[in-house]
This record gives sequence, C-alpha cells and structure tokens, in this order.
Amino acid sequence: MTNKGSTFISNLKDNIGQQVTLAGWLYNSRASGKIQFLIIRDGTGLCQCIVEKGKVPDELFEQLKHLGQESSLTVTGMVRADERSVGGYELAVTDAEIISPAVDYPITPKSHGIDFLLKNRHLHLRSQGQWCIGKIRHTVIDAIRRFFNDNGFILIDTPILTATAGEEEQTLFKVDYFGEPINLTQTGQLHLESAAMSFGRVYCFGPTFRAEKSKTRRHLTEFWMVEPEVAFIDLGGLLELAENFVSFIVAQVLQENRGHLETLGADVASLEKIKPPFYRLTYTEAVDILTSQKARDFLAGQLVELKNQKEHIEGRITQLEEEQKGQIKQWKRDKNAAELIELRSELAEVDTKIENNPKHAELAAEFRWGKDLGGSDETIISQMHDKPVFVTHYPKQAKAFYMKTDRDSEKVVLNFDLLAPAGFGEIIGGSVREDDYDRLVTRINEQGLNIENYGWYLDLRKYGSVPHGGFGLGVERTIAWLTGEKHIRQCIPFPRMMDKVYI
Ligand code: 4AD
Ligand code: MG
Repeated sequence: MTNKGSTFISNLKDNIGQQVTLAGWLYNSRASGKIQFLIIRDGTGLCQCIVEKGKVPDELFEQLKHLGQESSLTVTGMVRADERSVGGYELAVTDAEIISPAVDYPITPKSHGIDFLLKNRHLHLRSQGQWCIGKIRHTVIDAIRRFFNDNGFILIDTPILTATAGEEEQTLFKVDYFGEPINLTQTGQLHLESAAMSFGRVYCFGPTFRAEKSKTRRHLTEFWMVEPEVAFIDLGGLLELAENFVSFIVAQVLQENRGHLETLGADVASLEKIKPPFYRLTYTEAVDILTSQKARDFLAGQLVELKNQKEHIEGRITQLEEEQKGQIKQWKRDKNAAELIELRSELAEVDTKIENNPKHAELAAEFRWGKDLGGSDETIISQMHDKPVFVTHYPKQAKAFYMKTDRDSEKVVLNFDLLAPAGFGEIIGGSVREDDYDRLVTRINEQGLNIENYGWYLDLRKYGSVPHGGFGLGVERTIAWLTGEKHIRQCIPFPRMMDKVYI
C-alpha cells in the first residue's frame, strides 16, 4: 500500500536498493560535519535517513540541519539494509521537502516528569513509549474480539446510561437525565445476563465508569472492559474460559508486538509461559498464604533485594554526578542528564517500596477471613506466583449482590478474581450469578439497593432461570501487565483519573 506516492517505513524491507519517498515527522537528528542523521517516524516505524553534503542541494542541507524536532517532511532516497540502524533499514537521502517546520517542540528526547507528559498527552502520544503501547492496545482489542467471535459468542452493546448499579454504589457517576438521576454504567453485566438468556453466549465491550476516589496505579474513572456471559456454565467452566482467553491475548501480542514489548522493556520470557492451566486458590487458601511464615520470608527477602537495588542506583547516580562535574562532550552530558532523571525516579519508586514493605507485611499478617483482598494483598499473592492465579470462593459479605452463594458452603460465593503474576494484581473479576429468585431478592435488600430498579433483572429468574455466569477483563490493567507499565494511565490514550482530566 502506498501513502500518496510515498512508502511506509514498515514496507522498506520490500524496497531495498530502490528509491522511495517517506512522509513523516522528524523524531530526532544529529549532525556531524558533512553528514546528518535524521530519524524519521511515519506512524509505522522509525527510519534513519542519512543526508550527506553534496548529495543534496546546499540550501536544503542547511535547512535540514536546523530543522526542529517534530517538523513534518518528506524525504526521498535509496533504501539500504543496515542491521545497526533503527528498524534495520536506512535511507540515503537525495531530496527532501519540508512540509511544516516545528520550533521548540516541548517534549524533547530527554526525560520529563509524568505530570508534564500528562498535560501534553496530545503530543506525548508521538513518543516511542506511547506508540508501542498504542500498537499493543490495538492487538489486545483485536484479540479480544477475535477470541469471542471465533468461539460462538454474540456481541451485545449494553447501555451506558443505566438506572441499575452493577457494582458498589459509592462509585456511581450520577447523571441528570431530564431531571431524573441515573448513572453511567459500571458494568454491562446485568443487561448482558438478559441477552445470554436469548443467545446463550454473549459479550459486551465498551467503556465503563467508576467514580473511584482512589489515586492508585490500578484505577481509572473511565476504563474499557470486555465481559462475556454464558448460559449453562459453572465456576470450573468460567475459569477454563478465562484462562484460554487470557492465554490467547498473550499469544497474539507475542506474535504481533514482540518488538514493541522489547522496546518497552517488557518481560517477554515470562509472557511466553502464560499458557493454561493457571494456578487455582480458594480465598481461604489465599488468606492462609498471606498469614503464613512463607509470606513473611518472601517479604523479608524482597526488602533485602530492594535495599540492594537502592544501593546500586545510588552508586550509579554518584558516578554520573561526578562525570557531570568534569570536562565531557555535550552529547555525553545530555545522555547522563537523561539517565539521571530516570535513575532519580527509579530511586523514588524503590524508596516507596521500601517504605511500604513493612506496612504491607503487617496488613498481610493481620489479615482476617471475611475482608476483601486489598491491593497490597493481591500484589503479594501475585508476586509469589509466576503465572496468573485464580482466587475463588470469596466471603459473601465482601462481594456483589449478584454472585451465587455456594450451596455447599453458604458463607462464600461462586466467584473468582484473576491475579496477573509478578505483582500486577487483579485483571479479571467474575462469578456464577445467583439464579434463584428468592435468594436474589434477599441479597438486593441486604445490600440496600432499590428493588424497584431490579424488576427486569429479577424477571430473568422467573422465566426459565438457568445456571449462568461471566466475567469482566479490564483492558488497561491487562496492557499494563503485558507491557510492564507501572501505572494503567499509560495504557489508554487519554486517561481519566480523579484528579486528572487534562485533554
Ligand atoms: O471486578 P469488577 O468490578 O467486575 C465487574 O464489573 C463484573 N460486573 C464483571 C462481570 O462479571 N461481568 O471489574 C472487572 C475488571 C477488574 O478485574 C479490572 O481489571 C477492571 O475491570 N477494573 C478497572 N480497571 C481500571 N480502573 C478501574 N477503576 C477498574 N475497576 C475495575
Ligand atoms: Mg473486582
């Protein structure tokens, strides 16, 4: 495919030895005497373009030399394969046309603080990190649809404006609907259950909203969730569906985005291990682990490791600061400055972890049966496993009204959370649904929900009720896990958080 007479960087492999024109933006450049190295990006990749004095008109050579980062341009030249070059190909430039020069682009290749980058997200999307994440997000979303479409599921678009609350009422966003208060949807599940009674296997996929007052790395106020719902399924069937689904997403990302994962520094080797079966723990077993000597030893070992890391980072910082005091080339000085910014933010993170370690250890040791697992508890359990872990059978009082009570053990519900490994925590929540009319009425009343809003939902238990269940997978949390991003705000193009809606 061509791009108005030009070639995409991703197609250069088919054009070796030929003259092509690339249309893109100047990502980075450096000049050394009679030669300039321009890194161009075009949305499909990066390409190093070499401009030699004498091979292009002198006036153009000078213009290119002073061209600012993110100027738009076309460059024409001969394609060469070069393994050392970014992307593996180079262009020996014979001509170029500047489309729109950019002056003082605010985001330089040096490091910037996260607040600055969030305020400039409209521009930051052009950075390599955001570009790689965007490509991976595309694959994840494509894999989600492909998995369900290829496995007999029907896509159902559930409403965003709803009267019912699917999850905790405290996190509802209220909307004034012609004078009536209604909510932005927290989940498509309730409506999806009604569709499951028509189509058998269904899924919905869209944005969901939660007025989360927490500012943790795992919470957005607007996030994307995919939810399958299946008639005639039990908890075991749901776990199998979930592990096959997650393994499929991981396999697709490994196939399509290996390079992007590597650029982001993701742990590709660990992702290769993500195949069924995943680990299965009951909530009660998870509590036993949290309060065990094994967990205490694990956390103590982690503290030692963190302190070593801290020492190592501090050593490198001192070394770089010394270098900066001496006589060094400008490019080296800039490179050191960028590394120092990175190291200082890494150090701050390690310091936070060192500070939190004893608090988390205490929370875990004092954990009592009955509470929902907290973020730090999930982190500990997931850190102690190298593959995703299902935690099932939570106490009824800690979970949503719609979850089916285990008839063999009335204190717990037939639900599960899937914890991603290596500390990422919950990426899926799901359950078998209460299918008994009277029990559901009791649960709705116990939770203080307005039963009038649930008449239609209760009807599903009146007319041909069947065992059924489903789950929801958070797209941004999944991407954060796959890419190794610490904060899920990096995994959606325009994040919405309690204290941040910039763009
Ligand atoms: O565990 P949750 O709340 O489950 C439900 O909403 C069910 N109704 C789903 C179902 O059974 N159909 O949310 C499901 C997933 C979580 O595991 C997490 O990945 C993601 O949605 N999630 C969030 N992601 C980002 N920001 C938030 N505030 C999130 N809350 C939940
Ligand atoms: Mg949950």
